[in-house]
This record gives sequence, C-alpha cells and structure tokens, in this order.
Amino acid sequence: MSIPPPIAMLAELTHRCPLACPYCSNPVDLLKKDAELDTETWARAFGQAADMGVLQLHLSGGEPASREDIVELTQAAHDAGLYTNLITSGIGLTPRRLDALEAAGLDHVQLSMQGTTADLADWIGGYKGGFDRKLKVAQELKTRGIPLTLNAVMHRHNLDDLDRTIQMAVDLGARRMEVACVQFHGWATQNRGMLLPTREQAEATKQKVAEAAERLKGIMAFDFVPPDYYADYPKACMGGWGSAGLNIAPDGSVLPCHSAQMIPHLTFDKISDKPLAEIWYNSPAFNAYRGDDWMPDTCKSCDRKEIDLGGCRCQALMIAGDAAKMDPVCSKSPDHGRIQEMLDQAMSGEQTAFTYRRIGGAGS
Ligand code: FES
Repeated sequence: MSIPPPIAMLAELTHRCPLACPYCSNPVDLLKKDAELDTETWARAFGQAADMGVLQLHLSGGEPASREDIVELTQAAHDAGLYTNLITSGIGLTPRRLDALEAAGLDHVQLSMQGTTADLADWIGGYKGGFDRKLKVAQELKTRGIPLTLNAVMHRHNLDDLDRTIQMAVDLGARRMEVACVQFHGWATQNRGMLLPTREQAEATKQKVAEAAERLKGIMAFDFVPPDYYADYPKACMGGWGSAGLNIAPDGSVLPCHSAQMIPHLTFDKISDKPLAEIWYNSPAFNAYRGDDWMPDTCKSCDRKEIDLGGCRCQALMIAGDAAKMDPVCSKSPDHGRIQEMLDQAMSGEQTAFTYRRIGGAGS
C-alpha cells in the first residue's frame, strides 16, 4: 500500500487554556506545563513536517497563546515554509502580541466564538468577559487584514441562534466559518446530557448551513461538521486514519488523531525520540487502521468505503468497545442501537449543569 505524505499537522502546543468549555476535545487527563515540548523541539518538528510535504500547520491547544514562545514558534513555522494557522480563543492576544505574530509571518487565525451574546458565550466558555475580548481580537484581525475563520462550536444551547452566529461571522469579516457541531470525545462525553442537540435542531442546522453557503458564495465559505449521532453514515474522521493529517500532543506524542491515546493497545512514538517521517510511515500505531485490511467485512464490501474511510476508530472504541469494529454511527453497524440509547439518555433531562473543563489557568 502506498502511503501519501500528510498535508496538515496540528500542533497541540499546550493543554493550558483560560476557557473551560464543556465540550473541550482534549483528553480528560490534561498535561501540565512541565510536560510540554520546548521551543527548539517544536521548531525541529516543523522543519521535519515541511520536509515531508506538510503544507498547513495548525497551532492549537488548549490555548496556544498560553505559550510564552508563541511568536518564536510562529516564526519557526514560517521559516520552515509552512502556512501557519493559529487556532485560538483570542484570550491573551493583545494588539502588541498580534503585531509580533504578524511580523513573524502568521498567515491565518481561527477564532472560536461560543455564542452571539456575552451572557451565552461566557456561560458556555466558563470565562467571564471572554466574549468582549474575542470581539476586540476579531476587530484587530480585521484592521490588520489577517484572514479569519470563525469557529463556532454548536450544540443544544446555541443552535437556535445559528442565523445570528452566521451574521456575526460576516460582520466580523470572516472569510470562512466552521460550523462544528460538538463531537463527543474527551471532555465532551461528560456533558452529553447538556450538549446533544434535538433531532429537529440537527435537521434545521443542515438546511440553514446549506442555505447560508449558497447565499454567501464569494463572501464567506463554510465547513460543516454535523452532529453525527443523527447521521446514517459515519464521518470520514481525519480524512482517514494516517492518511491526510497528524497531531502532535503537548508532550511530543505523535498521534493519528486527537483522541487516539484512548486506544489502549496502541503506543505512540514521541517526536523527541524519532524522526517524524519514520513515525508517519513505519509506526505500528499509524499503520494500525490504514487501508482496509483491518475493516470488518461489512465495511470492506460497502460502496461507501471510499467516502467514509472507515469512520472514526475512537468512536468505535468508545461505543462498541473495540477500535477495529464498525463506527456505531453507521446504520449497518450491529452496535447502532447504542446510539439511540445514548440519545435517549442524553435527552432524559438528568444532567442539568455543565461540568466545566479546568486546568489551573493560563500560567500553570
Ligand atoms: Fe480518533 Fe476519530 S477521533 S479516529
């Protein structure tokens, strides 16, 4: 099997974050500051990624601006020839820091917004004053002409506000909007009872995004991640395992996806121990679910095989108990009934408050 090089790399620079979003996709056990890679090791990883053919680097977290060396890291990525995208809450991006990031060659910013009003957004993000600070950052980006993607994570409590969220993105000058319905990995699984949208919301969202994409053609492009518990077929998670992109965790573990460490029989090499290319092409973890040898017969013979690309391995583990089983979101999966059980439980009204994700603040 020929293995293409990765196109994109997501560098999770830190798990530290001032926000406490109940749907955080980071693992439940967060890494502390002293486990994080240093500037030099990250810079080496960026160079190796560029040599392999990676085009886009997403600097993410946690909150990447929690790293004191975010400007140096951006510079290193730029010097390596990577298109550099900062995925941020905006907290910690002062005008001075933005000046420095711009000078270091930052190409693009993806700013998360939790709602269209301070009350809603600050409640969801668990950070008072966050909404106003994000608006200021968006204005600064607009003034500087730095391309902006507005990243709206959607769920039961803000989906009815989707039209206003889209208009807010247009008003802030975003060129792209990601309407990402919460995926239940990591911390989000603890808040399923509060976050899962209703079926009516899920249906309306699909239609609203399609209409907005048509209406705003040439003004703003859309990426849409639907709430997959209501889907008949699974999402092509990561564009296929070990196929298009990779993640590096704050401690340097190189991962096929952000949740891969939950798969107990896989071990993950660290960028400080082995060259990135060796890990990508030869490591057992990256080869575990490449191609279709690992697939159950139903997937192997399915005419959607090249569309779904095996679905999500982490979801198969979480819900069906085995990462090599069919993604239970698929209506052909023998475990598909579990999805309905989870929907029923999430809609039972048992959970009445968010469990916020907190790790001792930006400076810890
Ligand atoms: Fe790991 Fe989907 S999140 S394969």
